[in-house]
Amino acid sequence: MIQIKDVTKKYPKARKYALENVSLDINTGEAFGILGPNGAGKTTLMSIITTLVLPTAGSVTVDGEKLSRQRIDIKKKISFVTQHISIRKDMTVAEVMELSGRLYGLPGKMIKKRSMQLLEFTGIADKAKSTARGLSGGQQRKLMIARALLSDPEILVLDEPTVGLDPHARRKIWDMLIGLKLKGLTLLLTTHYIEEAESVCDRVAFISGGRVSDIDTPANMISDMGSFAIDVFEGERTKSYFFKSAEEAEGFIKTSGKPVKVRDSTLEDVFLKKMGTELG
Ligand SMILES: Nc1ncnc2c1ncn2[C@@H]1O[C@H](COP(=O)(O)OP(=O)(O)OP(=O)(O)O)[C@@H](O)[C@H]1O
Ligand SMILES: [Mg+2]
Repeated sequence: MIQIKDVTKKYPKARKYALENVSLDINTGEAFGILGPNGAGKTTLMSIITTLVLPTAGSVTVDGEKLSRQRIDIKKKISFVTQHISIRKDMTVAEVMELSGRLYGLPGKMIKKRSMQLLEFTGIADKAKSTARGLSGGQQRKLMIARALLSDPEILVLDEPTVGLDPHARRKIWDMLIGLKLKGLTLLLTTHYIEEAESVCDRVAFISGGRVSDIDTPANMISDMGSFAIDVFEGERTKSYFFKSAEEAEGFIKTSGKPVKVRDSTLEDVFLKKMGTELG
């Protein structure tokens, strides 16, 4: 279990706090999504959990032990797939894996064996001899995931693992992440694809302006808002209304007198409503 307690971060010279009193518990084996707009503090939070950035105040504990840069034993449990592609482009896929394995201090034989398995698992085994430069965006993301798994972590932290990928490539990565969750890994991830977070994450938290506002399962968030969505076409704009029961929704349609579309509410609706943005 990861416990984030009252974590605050102010970067040197920054006027505002990047994170303010963030507290979150992430259970072992769960897939947890951190959702928020640009600049909300998602990457900062992930960087603190992976000790790349130090908090100004507050603490992170993993299985009851306080995380710090010195606690290599705790850090070993966690791997990070960063938002930006961080691979030496002139190295081959096999070399990227080997270098990483050496940095983790793994024996050569084990590096070879695990690399093969992980490149198979991520679907880029046939690219082992290509340079990273010769990989597509999706293949580079897969390589970053394969590399992060080399140390056999218990917790995989992924900062926008599918950003910029086409729907097919995104689906492949999400399927891979579901596979890892089924193997017992704890996943902590951020994404701007709310629909995808809804289908993969057991729980999500909304973050905005450095503060976490809601923590719940996607299903609870949707039913708390109202699972019946009605889009009303009001001139140039579409406005969505949410209802907890079919009766309420029907009553609204009868009195509205405008063209409407009835559908199921989604986590994206909850997100847009909470983040104060209207559809359209
Ligand atoms: N190294 C830094 N120095 C100063 N300020 C920073 C630094 N990194 C981030 N910030 C600021 O902290 C805030 C949170 O940034 P962060 O990168 O954590 O957001 P994010 O939610 O990951 O955004 P995005 O969705 O765009 O990736 C922003 O206001 C950002 O400008
Ligand atoms: Mg970010």
